[in-house]
Order: sequence, then structure tokens, then C-alpha cells
Amino acid sequence: IRDDPTAVGDYIANYITKRINDFKPTEKKPFVLGLPTGSSPIPTYKALIKLVKDGKLSFKNVVTFNMDEYVGLPQDHSESYHTFMFREFFSHVDINPDNVNILDGNVHDLVGECKRYEAKIKSYGGIELFLGGIGEDGHIAFNEPGSSLASRTRIKTLAYDTILANARFFNNDIDAVPRMALTVGVATVLEAREVVVVVTGQRKSLALSKAIEEGVNHLWTLSALQMHPWALIVVDEDATAEL
Ligand code: GLP
Repeated sequence: IRDDPTAVGDYIANYITKRINDFKPTEKKPFVLGLPTGSSPIPTYKALIKLVKDGKLSFKNVVTFNMDEYVGLPQDHSESYHTFMFREFFSHVDINPDNVNILDGNVHDLVGECKRYEAKIKSYGGIELFLGGIGEDGHIAFNEPGSSLASRTRIKTLAYDTILANARFFNNDIDAVPRMALTVGVATVLEAREVVVVVTGQRKSLALSKAIEEGVNHLWTLSALQMHPWALIVVDEDATAEL
């Protein structure tokens, strides 16, 4: 528990920096980092950018896989996760764009795209550290309530609560929010060697308490982390309101 979102971001950024700097990459085995979108990870991204600018961290030997992407939203739309990631993070650090992997929600064969993504993750020997955020309904990536805890990368229909929550990014126009997304599965996240989740703000406090104080439950998919041997949830004071 840290005081506020900035302190959470600083903590996670320093944590990731240590992992990347302690890792001995080879051409075949770079550091494989899973990344989320949303407002919660922005302070982490800001802190990571500063660490790169200060010469304390480099993304030269890092390959990234994003958690999710909307279906049918043009890649260059201001709210696509592709645009978000380059705007908030990738454009400000020394990562090779060829090392950035984001699901493509505009291909004809969406099922094939999900299979391709899982295979590509495997080709690197899996994800070293998966950074995640959660929705107010406790979803991790876009694994909405009711998702199988054994799920892999797939197409997911968004819950109405998520569409409502995300309307703020679409001028509060609910109809403009895509109805479907591609997302890594709960099992894809659980397979990472390490999972770090950022949870900030009172809006997330119910989900946090359900996920860590109650049993493993597919209605609050973050709770699946209880089964992970190396998971860390970093929260601010406001997120602890229901604990
Ligand atoms: C979306 C993303 C999630 C993210 C969530 C929280 O639903 N698919 O991966 O965790 O938003 O967003 P925020 O951090 O803005 O509350």
C-alpha cells in the first residue's frame, strides 16, 4: 500500500527497472514484458520514461505484449490501445517498435489473431513479468466477470459496466464504445513468471476486497492471482477503502 497513485507508479517503475536490469538477455531470450492500458498505469509509465531519460533503464532488450485491444476500432483512432500505448509510453522510450506486440482487432480472422498472439508469446519462452490493471468489476485485461479462469487469448464481449466506465474516453458517448475486444486470457496472465497489478482509487476498492479477501472466483477475475506463486498488487490508500 502506497499513499497515492504517484507513489504507486514510482514503486512499480523501480520494481520493473530492477527486474529488467537484473535480467541477462540474449538474442533468443529478451526480457518479455506484458503491459496494460487504462489511466491506472499512467503514473508507472511516466516514472519509467523518467528512468529511461535519466539513463537508469533501457528497453533495447525488451519485448512487450499488450493485454488487450478493442475490436473494430481503427488502429489510428485516438482511443485504440495501439494509439494509447505509443502516446503514453512507447514513443518516449528507446524500444524498437518491432519489439512491440499489440493484438490487432481489425483483422478478418480474429480467432487466428488470438492464436498467433499466444504462439508468439510462447516463441519467446513466455512472459517474464505481466503488469496489469483492473476494471471496477474486477476484470484483469478484458476478462469480464464470468470469464473462465482457464481462458486464453480470445474475443470477449464487454460487460455493460465496462462500456459505461470506458465511455469517458469516447466523449461520454456510450454508443461509440466498441462492444468487443481481444484479450489475453486469465490463464495467459497466470502463466507469466511474475504478475504485478496496479489498483488505485476508491472506484476499485470493492473489486480489490472481493479479489483478495474472498475466494478465487470467476466473477472477480483478479482473484485468480491468489493461485499465482509470484503476484504483487500495488495499491493506493483510496483503493483500500473496503478492506
Ligand atoms: C480497461 C482495460 C483494462 C484496464 C481497465 C482499467 O477495461 N481493458 O486492462 O485495467 O480499463 O482502466 P482504468 O485504469 O482507467 O480504470
